[in-house]
Amino acid sequence: MDPKKLRSQQWFGRDDKMGFVHRSWMRNQGHPDHMFRGKPVIGICNTWSDLSPCNAHLRDFAEIVKRGVYEAGGFPLEFPVMSFGETLMKPTSMLWRNLVSMDAEETIRANPLDGIVLLTGCDKTTPSTLMGAASVDLPTIVVPGGPMLNGKFRGKDIGSGTATWQLDEARKAGTLTREEFAEAEACMSRSAGHCMTMGTASTMATMVEALGLTLPGASAIPAVDSRKKVMAHLSGNRIVQMVEEDLKLSKILTRKAFENAIKVNSAVGGSTNLILHLTAIAGRAGVKLTLEDFDRLGSNLPLLLNLMPSGKYLMEDYFYAGGLPVILEELAGELHTDCLTVNGKTLGENNTGIPCYDREVIARMGQPVQEQAGIAVLTGNLCEQGAVIKPAAATRELLTHKGRAVVFEDIEDYHRRIDDPQLDVDKDCVLVLKSVGPVGYPGMPEVGNFALPAKLIKAGVTDMVRISDGRMSGTAYGTVVLHVAPESAIGGNLALVRDGDLIELDVPARSLTLCVPDEELSERRKHWKPPAPRADRGYASLYIREVEQADQGCDFGFLKGGSGSEVTRNLH
Ligand code: FES
Repeated sequence: MDPKKLRSQQWFGRDDKMGFVHRSWMRNQGHPDHMFRGKPVIGICNTWSDLSPCNAHLRDFAEIVKRGVYEAGGFPLEFPVMSFGETLMKPTSMLWRNLVSMDAEETIRANPLDGIVLLTGCDKTTPSTLMGAASVDLPTIVVPGGPMLNGKFRGKDIGSGTATWQLDEARKAGTLTREEFAEAEACMSRSAGHCMTMGTASTMATMVEALGLTLPGASAIPAVDSRKKVMAHLSGNRIVQMVEEDLKLSKILTRKAFENAIKVNSAVGGSTNLILHLTAIAGRAGVKLTLEDFDRLGSNLPLLLNLMPSGKYLMEDYFYAGGLPVILEELAGELHTDCLTVNGKTLGENNTGIPCYDREVIARMGQPVQEQAGIAVLTGNLCEQGAVIKPAAATRELLTHKGRAVVFEDIEDYHRRIDDPQLDVDKDCVLVLKSVGPVGYPGMPEVGNFALPAKLIKAGVTDMVRISDGRMSGTAYGTVVLHVAPESAIGGNLALVRDGDLIELDVPARSLTLCVPDEELSERRKHWKPPAPRADRGYASLYIREVEQADQGCDFGFLKGGSGSEVTRNLH
């Protein structure tokens, strides 16, 4: 290709003092002169870290991507972004999704890069880096790191996260010993990779493949399968060609592609977190998604994938059954199959004539695992800007329910009282947790599926209606209403709920109602005081000030859209 068209040549193609500066320091890594002379420079954005176990193998994967880039005539340069794993970071990794998106965006824009490979895995590592990349809009391909192999405990499969909640409940109910609980810990995460249920990481990998941002079939390949390495190598090849073809993200991230992702999420039983992340990514790409889009496009579609937490199997089984291409072909009549993907072909061209090797795992449209499996969006006076529930992960009988509220003012109040034998609660109550929203916590943690009172678990209760302004792990289950907006900390009606109020959930009617007269709510509001912000300096304070509500994707308002890839001022 014409070297003058390469963005990187604005740095490396100069014959003046600044060209000297840009090349000379890079030469200390041993790059020969011809690497600076007209080769597409590919940035490999790596979310690897020892502190992010689901992405710990990506250090090696970057080398494999580099092989592919070199082979295709490109110049690969790897760079890190702040890595953030779900399982270690306090108070919740969601707090930093926007920060990592800024890290990725500014690193990409500020450097001599022509194309980008995003190496992702654990939940937020995919949306954060993609949000950043979308705001720059260079040719970009995603290499999802892949799920772990199936967890195996005493002859049975156990799934990441999903098993954690089940084992914890069994321990609390007295049906699992401490020793068995400890043994299971070592049996669940037994290989490199991210959660192998349809949790948020698998949901995000599915999402990027459905959007057309990976090579076909990439998302389900286990992290330790050699074909994952082949996929990484081929992605390295392909990104160089994408630069030559000027196949930018904006040509792929169209409204139709986002609609496809919503529909595919229903068919795979994906996480409710998709709503937040897809909305935020779309916002960077200049596409406006509303909560109503998710219900209208997705809620009537059937569940085709029999995978935990909505079903029985795990990602390894799904890969052996054929992976996402089988679902994409099965769902073709519902999708915009003319959407362009990173390999230059359409979604339909990539996913035609795909064999399925296990119909127990991937069902046909005519015989789905479950009818109408998508995420339902609720409205009502308890969630004036909306709330969401995942019916596929809920107890069917509780989807229409009216009960007495038992209210916890914040997470500390919940921990203090939930297992108190004196707590006035029965199985028909509705548990309400406040102050776990984007502003209130801050960062909207995955506590929406908070555990039931121990005394009810011991009595055999397995599910109750729970309502909060927080999120739920994609690996979790239960009749839980999430993402209530406006959240309680900014004065949404959730803040006004009191013990004993009646709350009515009607998922078929899409409503969530606090059965308290408006006059009484107005009276309560007069006495309501917002909680003190949980931070008054640093990034957390910026987050509290700038974060948008859940129905808008929890991005910062000032990050919406993009600034493109042009940098008008030079280093000196
Ligand atoms: Fe990283 Fe589940 S904790 S993907």
